[in-house]
Amino acid sequence: MNISSNLIATEQRLGANNYKPLDVVLTRGEGVHVWDTDGKRYLDCLSAYSAVNQGHCHPKILAAMVEQAGRLTLTSRAFRNDQLAYLYEELAALTGSHKILPMNSGAEAVETAIKAVRKWGYEVKGVPEGQAEIIVCANNFHGRTLSIISFSTDPDARAGFGPYTPGFRIVPFGDAEAFAAAINANTVAALIEPIQGEAGVIIPPAGYFTRVRELCTANNVTLILDEIQTGLGRTGKLLAEEHEGIEADVTLIGKALSGGFYPVSAVLSNSEVLGVLKPGQHGSTFGGNPLACAVARAALKVLTEEGMIENAETMGAYFLEGLRSIRSNIVRDVRGRGLMLAVELEPEAGGARQYCYALKDRGLLAKDTHDHTIRLAPPLVITRQQVDWAISQIEKTIT
Ligand SMILES: Cc1ncc(COP(=O)(O)O)c(C=O)c1O
Repeated sequence: MNISSNLIATEQRLGANNYKPLDVVLTRGEGVHVWDTDGKRYLDCLSAYSAVNQGHCHPKILAAMVEQAGRLTLTSRAFRNDQLAYLYEELAALTGSHKILPMNSGAEAVETAIKAVRKWGYEVKGVPEGQAEIIVCANNFHGRTLSIISFSTDPDARAGFGPYTPGFRIVPFGDAEAFAAAINANTVAALIEPIQGEAGVIIPPAGYFTRVRELCTANNVTLILDEIQTGLGRTGKLLAEEHEGIEADVTLIGKALSGGFYPVSAVLSNSEVLGVLKPGQHGSTFGGNPLACAVARAALKVLTEEGMIENAETMGAYFLEGLRSIRSNIVRDVRGRGLMLAVELEPEAGGARQYCYALKDRGLLAKDTHDHTIRLAPPLVITRQQVDWAISQIEKTIT
Protein backbone atom coordinates (compact mmCIF):
# COMPACT_ATOMS: atom_id res chain seq x y z
CA MET A 1 0.00 0.00 0.00
CA ASN A 2 1.27 3.50 -0.78
CA ILE A 3 1.26 6.31 1.77
CA SER A 4 -2.11 7.74 0.75
CA SER A 5 -3.88 4.37 0.97
CA ASN A 6 -2.38 3.88 4.43
CA LEU A 7 -3.53 7.30 5.60
CA ILE A 8 -7.02 6.76 4.18
CA ALA A 9 -7.27 3.37 5.91
CA THR A 10 -6.20 4.90 9.24
CA GLU A 11 -8.72 7.73 8.88
CA GLN A 12 -11.45 5.21 8.19
CA ARG A 13 -10.46 3.06 11.15
CA LEU A 14 -10.10 5.81 13.76
CA GLY A 15 -12.07 8.79 12.52
CA ALA A 16 -15.75 9.53 12.92
CA ASN A 17 -17.41 8.93 9.61
CA ASN A 18 -19.07 12.36 9.30
CA TYR A 19 -17.42 13.24 5.97
CA LYS A 20 -17.17 11.59 2.60
CA PRO A 21 -14.10 13.22 1.06
CA LEU A 22 -12.76 12.51 -2.41
CA ASP A 23 -9.89 10.09 -1.90
CA VAL A 24 -7.05 12.47 -2.57
CA VAL A 25 -4.53 13.05 0.24
CA LEU A 26 -3.04 16.53 0.01
CA THR A 27 0.24 17.53 1.50
CA ARG A 28 1.17 20.94 0.08
CA GLY A 29 -0.43 24.03 -1.41
CA GLU A 30 0.68 27.18 -3.16
CA GLY A 31 -1.59 29.73 -4.83
CA VAL A 32 -4.30 27.94 -6.80
CA HIS A 33 -2.51 24.59 -6.64
CA VAL A 34 -2.31 21.71 -4.19
CA TRP A 35 -0.17 18.55 -4.37
CA ASP A 36 -1.00 15.05 -3.17
CA THR A 37 1.31 12.66 -1.35
CA ASP A 38 2.36 11.14 -4.70
CA GLY A 39 3.50 14.55 -5.93
CA LYS A 40 0.59 15.03 -8.35
CA ARG A 41 -0.49 18.66 -8.78
CA TYR A 42 -4.13 19.81 -8.86
CA LEU A 43 -5.92 23.06 -9.55
CA ASP A 44 -8.04 23.62 -6.45
CA CYS A 45 -11.55 24.61 -7.50
CA LEU A 46 -13.05 24.43 -4.01
CA SER A 47 -10.71 26.65 -1.97
CA ALA A 48 -11.75 24.88 1.22
CA TYR A 49 -15.34 26.07 0.70
CA SER A 50 -14.08 29.60 -0.04
CA ALA A 51 -11.78 29.88 2.97
CA VAL A 52 -8.66 30.03 0.80
CA ASN A 53 -9.73 32.98 -1.36
CA GLN A 54 -6.23 34.45 -1.13
CA GLY A 55 -4.63 31.25 -2.48
CA HIS A 56 -2.92 28.52 -0.53
CA CYS A 57 -0.16 29.52 1.89
CA HIS A 58 -0.09 33.17 0.86
CA PRO A 59 3.45 34.28 1.82
CA LYS A 60 2.37 37.56 3.45
CA ILE A 61 -0.29 35.90 5.61
CA LEU A 62 2.23 33.18 6.46
CA ALA A 63 4.80 35.79 7.50
CA ALA A 64 2.26 37.59 9.69
CA MET A 65 1.27 34.30 11.31
CA VAL A 66 4.84 33.19 12.00
CA GLU A 67 5.81 36.60 13.36
CA GLN A 68 2.80 36.78 15.67
CA ALA A 69 3.10 33.12 16.75
CA GLY A 70 6.60 33.82 17.98
CA ARG A 71 5.45 36.83 19.98
CA LEU A 72 2.02 36.19 21.52
CA THR A 73 -0.71 33.75 20.54
CA LEU A 74 -3.46 33.82 23.15
CA THR A 75 -4.35 35.99 26.10
CA SER A 76 -8.06 35.18 26.31
CA ARG A 77 -10.33 38.18 26.56
CA ALA A 78 -9.60 38.35 30.30
CA PHE A 79 -6.79 40.68 29.22
CA ARG A 80 -6.37 42.91 26.20
CA ASN A 81 -3.95 42.31 23.34
CA ASP A 82 -2.27 44.71 20.95
CA GLN A 83 -3.79 43.29 17.73
CA LEU A 84 -7.55 43.36 18.33
CA ALA A 85 -8.00 47.12 18.14
CA TYR A 86 -6.20 47.24 14.79
CA LEU A 87 -8.38 44.45 13.39
CA TYR A 88 -11.49 46.34 14.55
CA GLU A 89 -10.26 49.53 12.95
CA GLU A 90 -9.36 47.88 9.66
CA LEU A 91 -12.60 45.89 9.43
CA ALA A 92 -14.67 48.95 10.31
CA ALA A 93 -12.90 51.04 7.67
CA LEU A 94 -13.39 48.34 5.05
CA THR A 95 -17.02 47.48 5.75
CA GLY A 96 -18.42 50.56 7.48
CA SER A 97 -19.54 48.58 10.54
CA HIS A 98 -19.80 50.26 13.91
CA LYS A 99 -19.44 47.26 16.18
CA ILE A 100 -17.58 43.99 15.70
CA LEU A 101 -17.55 40.75 17.64
CA PRO A 102 -14.79 38.28 16.75
CA MET A 103 -15.35 34.53 17.00
CA ASN A 104 -13.68 31.48 15.45
CA SER A 105 -15.87 29.33 13.22
CA GLY A 106 -18.63 30.45 10.92
CA ALA A 107 -21.24 28.60 12.96
CA GLU A 108 -20.15 30.51 16.05
CA ALA A 109 -20.66 33.80 14.24
CA VAL A 110 -24.17 32.67 13.28
CA GLU A 111 -24.94 31.62 16.87
CA THR A 112 -23.61 34.94 18.14
CA ALA A 113 -25.88 36.87 15.78
CA ILE A 114 -28.90 34.78 16.82
CA LYS A 115 -28.21 35.52 20.48
CA ALA A 116 -27.68 39.22 19.85
CA VAL A 117 -30.84 39.74 17.77
CA ARG A 118 -32.99 37.84 20.23
CA LYS A 119 -31.74 40.03 23.08
CA TRP A 120 -32.15 43.13 20.91
CA GLY A 121 -35.71 42.00 20.19
CA TYR A 122 -36.57 41.80 23.89
CA GLU A 123 -34.68 44.87 25.08
CA VAL A 124 -35.05 47.28 22.18
CA LYS A 125 -37.94 46.17 19.99
CA GLY A 126 -40.10 45.14 22.94
CA VAL A 127 -40.93 41.58 21.89
CA PRO A 128 -42.41 39.59 24.84
CA GLU A 129 -39.77 37.41 26.54
CA GLY A 130 -39.34 34.00 24.87
CA GLN A 131 -41.39 34.93 21.78
CA ALA A 132 -38.68 36.13 19.37
CA GLU A 133 -38.87 34.77 15.83
CA ILE A 134 -36.21 34.74 13.15
CA ILE A 135 -37.06 34.22 9.49
CA VAL A 136 -34.73 31.89 7.59
CA CYS A 137 -34.86 30.38 4.10
CA ALA A 138 -35.50 26.85 2.89
CA ASN A 139 -32.35 25.03 1.75
CA ASN A 140 -30.21 27.30 3.92
CA PHE A 141 -26.78 26.35 5.15
CA HIS A 142 -25.47 28.27 8.15
CA GLY A 143 -23.41 25.63 9.97
CA ARG A 144 -23.74 22.56 12.14
CA THR A 145 -24.58 23.55 15.71
CA LEU A 146 -27.85 22.43 17.27
CA SER A 147 -29.66 25.75 16.96
CA ILE A 148 -28.54 26.12 13.37
CA ILE A 149 -29.55 22.63 12.27
CA SER A 150 -32.86 23.19 14.06
CA PHE A 151 -33.87 25.42 11.15
CA SER A 152 -32.21 23.40 8.40
CA THR A 153 -34.49 21.83 5.77
CA ASP A 154 -31.86 19.25 4.83
CA PRO A 155 -32.84 15.91 6.41
CA ASP A 156 -29.17 14.77 6.51
CA ALA A 157 -28.20 17.84 8.51
CA ARG A 158 -31.21 17.77 10.86
CA ALA A 159 -32.76 14.35 11.35
CA GLY A 160 -31.99 12.53 14.56
CA PHE A 161 -30.60 15.53 16.45
CA GLY A 162 -33.74 16.79 18.20
CA PRO A 163 -35.10 18.26 20.39
CA TYR A 164 -34.72 21.35 18.26
CA THR A 165 -34.35 25.02 19.12
CA PRO A 166 -37.65 26.83 18.47
CA GLY A 167 -38.14 30.38 17.19
CA PHE A 168 -37.42 30.07 13.47
CA ARG A 169 -39.81 30.51 10.57
CA ILE A 170 -38.79 29.02 7.22
CA VAL A 171 -39.76 30.68 3.92
CA PRO A 172 -38.77 29.87 0.32
CA PHE A 173 -35.53 31.54 -0.78
CA GLY A 174 -35.97 34.29 -3.38
CA ASP A 175 -39.69 34.80 -2.73
CA ALA A 176 -40.13 38.30 -1.31
CA GLU A 177 -43.89 37.99 -0.89
CA ALA A 178 -43.53 34.81 1.18
CA PHE A 179 -40.97 36.70 3.22
CA ALA A 180 -43.40 39.58 3.74
CA ALA A 181 -46.13 37.19 4.83
CA ALA A 182 -43.89 35.60 7.46
CA ILE A 183 -43.22 38.86 9.33
CA ASN A 184 -45.19 39.45 12.52
CA ALA A 185 -44.84 41.58 15.64
CA ASN A 186 -42.39 39.08 17.18
CA THR A 187 -40.04 38.94 14.19
CA VAL A 188 -36.67 40.17 15.39
CA ALA A 189 -34.52 39.22 12.42
CA ALA A 190 -34.09 37.57 9.06
CA LEU A 191 -31.03 35.40 8.50
CA ILE A 192 -30.24 34.85 4.81
CA GLU A 193 -27.32 33.87 2.55
CA PRO A 194 -26.95 36.36 -0.34
CA ILE A 195 -26.34 33.35 -2.60
CA GLN A 196 -27.08 29.89 -1.25
CA GLY A 197 -23.73 28.15 -1.56
CA GLU A 198 -24.24 24.68 -0.14
CA ALA A 199 -27.66 24.45 -1.80
CA GLY A 200 -25.83 24.61 -5.15
CA VAL A 201 -24.96 28.27 -5.80
CA ILE A 202 -28.57 29.46 -5.94
CA ILE A 203 -28.83 33.12 -6.94
CA PRO A 204 -32.10 34.85 -5.99
CA PRO A 205 -34.07 36.86 -8.56
CA ALA A 206 -32.92 40.46 -9.10
CA GLY A 207 -34.68 42.81 -6.72
CA TYR A 208 -35.28 40.16 -4.05
CA PHE A 209 -32.88 41.65 -1.54
CA THR A 210 -33.99 45.20 -2.27
CA ARG A 211 -37.53 44.17 -1.29
CA VAL A 212 -36.32 42.17 1.73
CA ARG A 213 -34.34 45.21 2.86
CA GLU A 214 -37.42 47.44 2.51
CA LEU A 215 -39.57 44.99 4.44
CA CYS A 216 -36.99 44.67 7.23
CA THR A 217 -36.70 48.43 7.56
CA ALA A 218 -40.47 48.98 7.49
CA ASN A 219 -41.06 46.32 10.16
CA ASN A 220 -38.05 46.98 12.41
CA VAL A 221 -36.58 43.57 11.58
CA THR A 222 -32.79 43.14 11.71
CA LEU A 223 -31.45 41.91 8.39
CA ILE A 224 -28.59 39.46 8.97
CA LEU A 225 -26.70 38.45 5.86
CA ASP A 226 -24.55 35.36 6.20
CA GLU A 227 -21.60 36.29 4.00
CA ILE A 228 -19.37 33.58 5.44
CA GLN A 229 -19.08 32.01 1.99
CA THR A 230 -20.08 34.86 -0.34
CA GLY A 231 -18.12 37.58 1.44
CA LEU A 232 -14.54 38.78 1.15
CA GLY A 233 -14.33 38.90 -2.61
CA ARG A 234 -15.76 35.55 -3.63
CA THR A 235 -18.54 37.02 -5.80
CA GLY A 236 -16.42 39.81 -7.26
CA LYS A 237 -17.37 42.36 -4.59
CA LEU A 238 -16.09 42.69 -1.05
CA LEU A 239 -19.58 41.68 0.13
CA ALA A 240 -22.22 40.09 -2.07
CA GLU A 241 -24.83 42.55 -0.75
CA GLU A 242 -23.21 45.16 -3.01
CA HIS A 243 -24.63 43.39 -6.08
CA GLU A 244 -28.08 44.47 -4.90
CA GLY A 245 -26.98 47.85 -3.59
CA ILE A 246 -28.25 47.11 -0.10
CA GLU A 247 -26.72 47.05 3.37
CA ALA A 248 -27.41 44.42 5.98
CA ASP A 249 -27.80 45.43 9.63
CA VAL A 250 -25.63 42.50 10.66
CA THR A 251 -23.08 40.81 8.41
CA LEU A 252 -21.38 37.53 9.21
CA ILE A 253 -17.95 36.77 7.82
CA GLY A 254 -15.55 33.89 8.40
CA LYS A 255 -13.64 31.47 6.20
CA ALA A 256 -11.44 33.78 4.04
CA LEU A 257 -11.09 36.21 6.94
CA SER A 258 -7.97 34.20 7.71
CA GLY A 259 -7.07 33.14 4.16
CA GLY A 260 -7.36 29.57 5.37
CA PHE A 261 -4.66 29.80 8.01
CA TYR A 262 -6.75 29.76 11.13
CA PRO A 263 -10.44 29.74 12.11
CA VAL A 264 -11.48 33.39 12.38
CA SER A 265 -15.02 34.75 12.05
CA ALA A 266 -16.73 37.98 12.95
CA VAL A 267 -20.12 39.53 13.45
CA LEU A 268 -20.25 43.02 11.95
CA SER A 269 -23.10 45.19 13.08
CA ASN A 270 -24.47 48.58 13.90
CA SER A 271 -24.18 49.67 17.53
CA GLU A 272 -27.78 48.96 18.42
CA VAL A 273 -27.73 45.18 17.93
CA LEU A 274 -24.30 44.18 19.25
CA GLY A 275 -24.65 46.91 21.86
CA VAL A 276 -27.09 44.73 23.82
CA LEU A 277 -24.36 42.23 24.77
CA LYS A 278 -22.88 43.04 28.15
CA PRO A 279 -19.86 41.52 29.95
CA GLY A 280 -20.42 37.87 30.78
CA GLN A 281 -23.23 37.39 28.26
CA HIS A 282 -21.17 36.02 25.36
CA GLY A 283 -17.60 35.09 24.55
CA SER A 284 -15.04 32.54 23.46
CA THR A 285 -11.57 31.68 24.80
CA PHE A 286 -9.99 31.98 21.36
CA GLY A 287 -12.23 34.67 19.82
CA GLY A 288 -10.22 37.83 19.12
CA ASN A 289 -6.89 36.28 20.08
CA PRO A 290 -3.76 38.08 18.84
CA LEU A 291 -2.73 35.31 16.46
CA ALA A 292 -6.18 35.28 14.83
CA CYS A 293 -6.19 39.08 14.62
CA ALA A 294 -2.72 39.28 13.05
CA VAL A 295 -3.64 36.60 10.51
CA ALA A 296 -6.97 38.27 9.70
CA ARG A 297 -5.32 41.67 9.29
CA ALA A 298 -2.84 40.23 6.78
CA ALA A 299 -5.59 38.26 5.01
CA LEU A 300 -7.70 41.40 4.53
CA LYS A 301 -4.71 43.43 3.43
CA VAL A 302 -3.66 41.07 0.65
CA LEU A 303 -7.27 40.57 -0.44
CA THR A 304 -7.75 44.28 -1.01
CA GLU A 305 -4.24 45.40 -1.97
CA GLU A 306 -3.48 42.63 -4.45
CA GLY A 307 -6.57 43.14 -6.61
CA MET A 308 -8.14 39.80 -5.72
CA ILE A 309 -11.70 41.10 -5.58
CA GLU A 310 -11.41 42.68 -9.05
CA ASN A 311 -9.79 39.50 -10.33
CA ALA A 312 -12.72 37.48 -8.97
CA GLU A 313 -15.06 39.70 -10.94
CA THR A 314 -13.21 39.50 -14.27
CA MET A 315 -12.08 35.87 -14.02
CA GLY A 316 -15.51 34.88 -12.71
CA ALA A 317 -17.25 36.40 -15.72
CA TYR A 318 -14.71 34.80 -18.05
CA PHE A 319 -15.05 31.38 -16.37
CA LEU A 320 -18.86 31.57 -16.51
CA GLU A 321 -18.81 32.47 -20.20
CA GLY A 322 -16.43 29.57 -20.89
CA LEU A 323 -18.61 27.11 -18.99
CA ARG A 324 -21.71 28.35 -20.80
CA SER A 325 -20.04 27.79 -24.16
CA ILE A 326 -19.59 24.06 -23.46
CA ARG A 327 -22.05 22.00 -25.49
CA SER A 328 -23.03 18.99 -23.44
CA ASN A 329 -26.34 17.16 -23.23
CA ILE A 330 -25.80 16.35 -19.56
CA VAL A 331 -25.64 20.00 -18.45
CA ARG A 332 -28.91 21.37 -17.10
CA ASP A 333 -27.70 24.79 -15.95
CA VAL A 334 -24.55 26.84 -15.51
CA ARG A 335 -24.67 29.73 -13.05
CA GLY A 336 -22.47 31.86 -10.90
CA ARG A 337 -21.42 35.24 -9.68
CA GLY A 338 -17.76 36.15 -9.50
CA LEU A 339 -15.78 33.02 -8.74
CA MET A 340 -18.72 31.25 -7.09
CA LEU A 341 -19.81 29.00 -9.94
CA ALA A 342 -21.81 25.85 -10.48
CA VAL A 343 -22.53 23.38 -13.25
CA GLU A 344 -25.78 21.56 -12.59
CA LEU A 345 -26.06 18.24 -14.38
CA GLU A 346 -29.19 16.50 -15.63
CA PRO A 347 -30.37 13.87 -13.13
CA GLU A 348 -29.88 11.20 -15.85
CA ALA A 349 -26.13 11.96 -15.80
CA GLY A 350 -25.90 9.73 -12.74
CA GLY A 351 -24.70 12.21 -10.10
CA ALA A 352 -21.98 14.84 -9.95
CA ARG A 353 -19.60 12.87 -7.79
CA GLN A 354 -18.34 10.59 -10.56
CA TYR A 355 -17.52 13.71 -12.62
CA CYS A 356 -15.62 15.17 -9.68
CA TYR A 357 -13.57 11.94 -9.59
CA ALA A 358 -12.98 12.21 -13.34
CA LEU A 359 -11.89 15.84 -12.89
CA LYS A 360 -9.55 14.79 -10.11
CA ASP A 361 -7.89 12.32 -12.45
CA ARG A 362 -7.36 15.23 -14.84
CA GLY A 363 -5.81 17.34 -12.08
CA LEU A 364 -8.77 19.53 -11.08
CA LEU A 365 -10.36 19.32 -7.65
CA ALA A 366 -14.03 20.23 -7.37
CA LYS A 367 -16.80 19.10 -5.06
CA ASP A 368 -20.24 17.80 -5.83
CA THR A 369 -23.08 19.35 -3.92
CA HIS A 370 -26.63 18.07 -3.58
CA ASP A 371 -26.11 15.13 -5.94
CA HIS A 372 -26.22 16.81 -9.34
CA THR A 373 -24.20 19.99 -9.03
CA ILE A 374 -20.46 20.52 -9.47
CA ARG A 375 -19.40 23.59 -7.54
CA LEU A 376 -16.42 25.58 -8.81
CA ALA A 377 -14.78 28.14 -6.54
CA PRO A 378 -11.05 28.49 -7.17
CA PRO A 379 -8.85 30.86 -5.18
CA LEU A 380 -9.35 34.47 -6.30
CA VAL A 381 -5.77 34.65 -7.60
CA ILE A 382 -6.56 32.39 -10.56
CA THR A 383 -5.22 33.58 -13.93
CA ARG A 384 -6.93 33.57 -17.36
CA GLN A 385 -4.61 30.79 -18.51
CA GLN A 386 -5.55 28.67 -15.51
CA VAL A 387 -9.25 29.34 -16.15
CA ASP A 388 -8.77 28.25 -19.79
CA TRP A 389 -7.10 25.07 -18.60
CA ALA A 390 -9.92 24.39 -16.11
CA ILE A 391 -12.61 24.93 -18.76
CA SER A 392 -10.91 22.53 -21.14
CA GLN A 393 -10.68 19.83 -18.45
CA ILE A 394 -14.34 20.33 -17.55
CA GLU A 395 -15.33 20.23 -21.21
CA LYS A 396 -13.48 16.96 -21.78
CA THR A 397 -15.08 15.48 -18.67
CA ILE A 398 -18.71 16.34 -19.39
CA THR A 399 -18.85 15.96 -23.18
C1 LIG B 1 -22.99 30.41 4.39
C2 LIG B 1 -22.29 29.65 5.47
N1 LIG B 1 -22.55 29.94 6.76
C3 LIG B 1 -21.95 29.30 7.76
C4 LIG B 1 -21.04 28.28 7.52
C5 LIG B 1 -20.41 27.56 8.67
O1 LIG B 1 -19.06 27.87 8.80
P1 LIG B 1 -18.10 26.92 9.68
O2 LIG B 1 -17.99 25.64 8.93
O3 LIG B 1 -16.81 27.68 9.75
O4 LIG B 1 -18.75 26.75 11.01
C6 LIG B 1 -20.75 27.94 6.20
C7 LIG B 1 -19.80 26.85 5.89
O5 LIG B 1 -19.76 26.27 4.84
C8 LIG B 1 -21.39 28.64 5.14
O6 LIG B 1 -21.16 28.35 3.86
